Amino acid sequence: MRTPFIAGNWKMHKTVGEAVEAARKLEELVQGSPVEVAICAPFTSLAALSALGLSKVKLGAQNMYWADQGAFTGEISAAMLLDVGCEYVILGHSERRHIFKEDDELINKKVLQALQKGLKPILCVGETLEERRAGQTENVVVTQTTRGLAGVGADKLPTVVIAYEPVWAIGTGEYCDAADANQVIARIRQTLAELYSEELAQQVRIQYGGSVKPGNIREFMEQPEIDGALVGGASLDAEGFASIVRY
Ligand code: 13P
Repeated sequence: MRTPFIAGNWKMHKTVGEAVEAARKLEELVQGSPVEVAICAPFTSLAALSALGLSKVKLGAQNMYWADQGAFTGEISAAMLLDVGCEYVILGHSERRHIFKEDDELINKKVLQALQKGLKPILCVGETLEERRAGQTENVVVTQTTRGLAGVGADKLPTVVIAYEPVWAIGTGEYCDAADANQVIARIRQTLAELYSEELAQQVRIQYGGSVKPGNIREFMEQPEIDGALVGGASLDAEGFASIVRY
């Protein structure tokens, strides 16, 4: 059985003080939940969040670079993220792909590095509105999944989380129909079965992301292929995010 996993992606929000306050509140509100919970906070808040010693709420980052260390101004390494208590790292988020022009090859290098260093990647895949209208949704997610995971060994696959985030549903309030999301996620799982094995594919958690709110989370969680959610805007408020976790 796959443990449900709901993660908040705070994106470029919250000062250290704001992050600490929200995380403390969240930790209290989600105690006892059977769902695994994480917040992916800005780099600047991670050390302070780690120092809180939270037991229920895990920590993740929103990006990292693939090299061990070196002259890469502005970048953050896997070792640095481990040092500040991260267990997860979001890689290939659509904002990284579209605003910062990250491609599958770069994202794949990051995935391999994260796994090699012991971080669990949350690999994001998803189609744009144009691609959806052109009937390319499944092609896009299959390609991004296959390229993103190139070279990942079967032994590491179960620690990978995939987030299906249709680009048109991110931050728009317009969410994907849950049955449609389930179908795309089933296609991603089938891709994993083809690349690895059915048994391994069944172990990988695949989240839905894109305008998830307290009012729609249950529809997604009722779908057999959807194992959780990656929540942006609605994760910023601790009470709102806790009500998503307690769907
Ligand atoms: P929203 O929940 O704000 O649509 O963002 C989704 C997202 O990008 C999570 O990574």
